[in-house]
Amino acid sequence: MDYKNIFINADNISFSYKQMHDEEPSRKDVKALDNVSLKIDKGQFVVMLGRNGSGKSTFAKHINGLLEPDIGIVTIAGLDTKDYEHIWDIRRMVGMVFQNPDNQIVGTTVEEDLAFGMENIGIETSEMRERIIDAAKTVDMSDYLEKAPSMLSGGQKQRVAIAGILAMRPECIVLDEATAMLDPVGREEVLRVVKILNKQENITIIHITHHMEEACDADRVIVLDEGRIVSDGTPHEVFANAKSIKKAGLALPQINEVFAQLREMGVEMQGDIISIDEASEVFARAINEKKGDGQ
Ligand SMILES: Nc1ncnc2c1ncn2[C@@H]1O[C@H](COP(=O)(O)OP(=O)(O)OP(=O)(O)O)[C@@H](O)[C@H]1O
Ligand SMILES: [Mg+2]
Repeated sequence: MDYKNIFINADNISFSYKQMHDEEPSRKDVKALDNVSLKIDKGQFVVMLGRNGSGKSTFAKHINGLLEPDIGIVTIAGLDTKDYEHIWDIRRMVGMVFQNPDNQIVGTTVEEDLAFGMENIGIETSEMRERIIDAAKTVDMSDYLEKAPSMLSGGQKQRVAIAGILAMRPECIVLDEATAMLDPVGREEVLRVVKILNKQENITIIHITHHMEEACDADRVIVLDEGRIVSDGTPHEVFANAKSIKKAGLALPQINEVFAQLREMGVEMQGDIISIDEASEVFARAINEKKGDGQ
């Protein structure tokens, strides 16, 4: 892979969750990351997949210094996450959105919530107001600034969480199953916002999900299994290797399965289809050709 401007660099990292009170490595320790090396360019949209316990959240926590590797180094924009001097710069650059929207909201109004992170990093009040208005607009929540977060839907809460990060002017947003508790509409809203931030503001996105369809229009898909990277490439490259996807305990996007079955039934199909959009095009072409034949 060619890199232009490496933003995240994990160099040979390993990490185990230690058993309590054990200073020395012990056999009971859970190895969650095993020799992971991964570079991610500024502005990339990366989807991270893997079965339960494969190490996705552990990796995510290494990106903003919530966890430090036992072995190896993680740098963010060249700053070592083990360097305490830089930890707040790193946390400001890398915002995290987690699964449960209710655990992430601290303010009694949306506006107060959006101010919270900025207060922590000492942004002036006048500047804060401007950034709140900006961030709320970006996630389409301008009309809700005075509202109590408890009144919002899950999707709206996650968009408020994203706006709170945006107000800190991040370089990267890590979404650790941020769409998992949302209904289809909420998921769609959050993904739309995330894609806009990626394309328009060049914010690097690491989106961890169990929804295969969400991987289809990423720049890059990374599959973890047992704390190791088992696939890394474009969505087409990764899903083309059905065997490896299944070995990692995952399923192919459903539409991809449909095409695989059609092929098995002897229907000639060109290309490897992974998204509904691609499938629609293939079907539309086939139907039009058939119409043409009939005339
Ligand atoms: N706080 C912890 N203490 C001990 N072991 C942990 C802890 N957190 C995670 N683990 C273990 O580390 C391994 C990796 O877990 P991790 O949470 O990173 O997986 P994940 O890919 O995010 O899974 P999921 O899809 O379920 O969120 C698993 O074996 C898990 O049981
Ligand atoms: Mg997880």
